[in-house]
Amino acid sequence: MLQHFTITVNGKGNFPCRPDQTIVEAGQQAGFGFPVACRNGVCERCMGTLQRGHVQQRNHTIHAGDANSTQVLYCVAQPLSDCEIDVSEVTAPGELPSHEVHCQIQQIEALNHDVSRVWLQLPAGKRVLWHAGQYMMLNLNGEGFPFSIANHCDGRRLELHIRHGDDNSAAQDIMAYLESASTVSATLPAGMRFIDSA
Ligand code: FES
Repeated sequence: MLQHFTITVNGKGNFPCRPDQTIVEAGQQAGFGFPVACRNGVCERCMGTLQRGHVQQRNHTIHAGDANSTQVLYCVAQPLSDCEIDVSEVTAPGELPSHEVHCQIQQIEALNHDVSRVWLQLPAGKRVLWHAGQYMMLNLNGEGFPFSIANHCDGRRLELHIRHGDDNSAAQDIMAYLESASTVSATLPAGMRFIDSA
């Protein structure tokens, strides 16, 4: 059996990596999404911290805790042991990258006396994906308010159903904001429970 080491990423999950593979290559084979561009140790997109273990980066051995262990380039780093690494923006298998965006508030319509349908439009030129069943955060006054996304990912439109009954003053404040503003900050997608449409 081929030897492999276990690479744990951002505490989210782990994958096997052979000593002759780069950590990015093995992670991508296992379904993890790494931020990469050049794949040649130049652009620093894949840079992250080695929290535990040892890697070979070209002709240098880097140990966790070394001065340069916060700047490991995982597209050219091969493991010498099991490793724990932190790289921002890595997504676990099935997970989509989260974005903070400013959405246009397009339309608000009452569905009944205390539920409104809100249509938001994502900015042009930024591809944001989600799985049916995930949720998003509306960012208002420094706080995040979670709402399920009611439609599946198909273009730039997001549908929310907001219940704002008399017993829910926070939702009433959110509706008052949405009815008076033209844009709203949102972070999405969130949540790892979704409908697997594969
Ligand atoms: S992808 Fe460019 S340095 Fe790793």
